Amino acid sequence: MDDSMEYLREECEKCYRCDLGKTRRNLVFGDGNEHARVMFVGEGPGEQEDLQGLPFVGPAGKLLDDMLEMIDLDRTKVYIANIVKCRPPRNRDPLYQEQDRCMDYLERQIALIDPAIIVCLGRIAAMNLIRDNFRITREHGMWYQIRGRSCTAIYHPSALLRDVSKRPETFEDLRGIRQQIRAICPEVYADVD
Ligand code: URA
Repeated sequence: MDDSMEYLREECEKCYRCDLGKTRRNLVFGDGNEHARVMFVGEGPGEQEDLQGLPFVGPAGKLLDDMLEMIDLDRTKVYIANIVKCRPPRNRDPLYQEQDRCMDYLERQIALIDPAIIVCLGRIAAMNLIRDNFRITREHGMWYQIRGRSCTAIYHPSALLRDVSKRPETFEDLRGIRQQIRAICPEVYADVD
């Protein structure tokens, strides 16, 4: 059977491949434009996301919205998902086993959306989607061609809330993302040009 977002979501709703399924209040499947050319991938839901069933709706999400706005994007133009779709207790990092078991869902989601550009939000997304020894402090803002898609990583918005000194570098990285979008999928900006 052909895969579809509805089918995939239903499968995830029923998932207990790892223990996060037992403690989630809501699955956080993903949000945004299912035909987006640009996809953002975070780490895993926090408390607000778990309560609302949507990615990046807490304080880090507010900052992500501001970051998108800086480069003339919003949630209608991009798709947002996470490495794990259920909240890790007390917001700890998802365990390797949890990441591994959830990655197949994200891979299918990426295949269905088929974005030209993937922006990893933070180290954990970059280690799963770019390279397992990815160093966010050294490699943020660099571009990698992964399975036909342009991929980059920037600091996670939560890291930018904790450490404002990282913001100027992230501003540069966001400019780089805008340039890359203009170069490979300029239609994203058809309404701002
Ligand atoms: N942090 C993430 O990595 N993802 C979310 O959805 C929210 C906070």
